[in-house]
Amino acid sequence: MIFEQLNPSSCKTYLLADDDLKQAILIDPVINHVTMYLDLMKERGYQLTHIIDTHTHADHISACPSLRDATDCDYVMHELAPSKCVSVRVEDQSELTLIGKKFKILHTPGHTRDSITILTDKLLFTGDFLFLEDAGAGRDDLPGGNPEDHWNSLLKLSNIPDDMVVYPAHEYRNRKPSDMKTQREKNPHLKIKTKEAFILYINDLKLGPADWMKDVLNANYKCSTDPNAAWIPTDLPACEIKGTMNPNTDDIEVKYISPPKFKDHIKNNPNILLLDVREKYELSDQLGHIDNVMNIPIGTLTSHLDKLNSYADGNIILICRSGARATSAAKILTTAGFLHVYVLEGGMINYRLHGL
Ligand SMILES: [Fe+2]
Repeated sequence: MIFEQLNPSSCKTYLLADDDLKQAILIDPVINHVTMYLDLMKERGYQLTHIIDTHTHADHISACPSLRDATDCDYVMHELAPSKCVSVRVEDQSELTLIGKKFKILHTPGHTRDSITILTDKLLFTGDFLFLEDAGAGRDDLPGGNPEDHWNSLLKLSNIPDDMVVYPAHEYRNRKPSDMKTQREKNPHLKIKTKEAFILYINDLKLGPADWMKDVLNANYKCSTDPNAAWIPTDLPACEIKGTMNPNTDDIEVKYISPPKFKDHIKNNPNILLLDVREKYELSDQLGHIDNVMNIPIGTLTSHLDKLNSYADGNIILICRSGARATSAAKILTTAGFLHVYVLEGGMINYRLHGL
């Protein structure tokens, strides 16, 4: 069997194919990559027989309606999925034969009502029901989400062997797929012992604003084939529950500095802190980084506020790839009492576009 993850982004799409049968399936394809998927099928001579969404996605538009239009393949989702363009509806314990192999379905609601987990060989496709290690799992606060359901779904994993490897629908921080034994040791969702403690844990999480996600859900409910049907911030770890923002930060005003004004601002404020909130590895990628930045990835910002104490009254400019994470960081710092917080408008992408 051929098995590959296809996307360059934090949304993961899995290709499973049989080279003898020349048949392929895709799990959780993303609309922005439709051409890439179709080109790949053509290059390798595969017939795309089935496409599966593990659940109705809230952070990206599914490619399934577009792929179904282009190839006439079957579109598989749980029977509770609101989408009208699904052609094969599965339920708990359903078995499918795809690319000549058996696939078993578990209904694992919690993140959404229609979430499924797919098992074949040693592979466990968990969607957003379970992420890798300390990433926990997808958030339960979106329409259809329910922590109690999530707990009951996690109980269904108790018989899954330790050596099955988890392939989630998202991975925001470059963790490598790891087995169930590792999840049992490291994933907070699997370490909590009682339903009551689990629900308390989920309800206590501070998550980022999710209004834009409701527009994405609506686009997926309606089988949209338009990549621009909903606005999606490009580099936010939107589905991960380790978000660090208070939900009531929507009305916090964020101040932006354009790249041309950025240099003057530094010159006029010698004690300014430049804080890059991207992951460490991103600072050495193509976009590079600005001299003398401090690096605290957004996911760890709230636990490192002590490093910023000497800047509480001073100026802080927040930097990320496109401005999305820096905006979240600005809200976190403003909530924490920092007075003069700015965001480099458009992030490093915009900075480079200005020839800086
Ligand atoms: Fe999701």
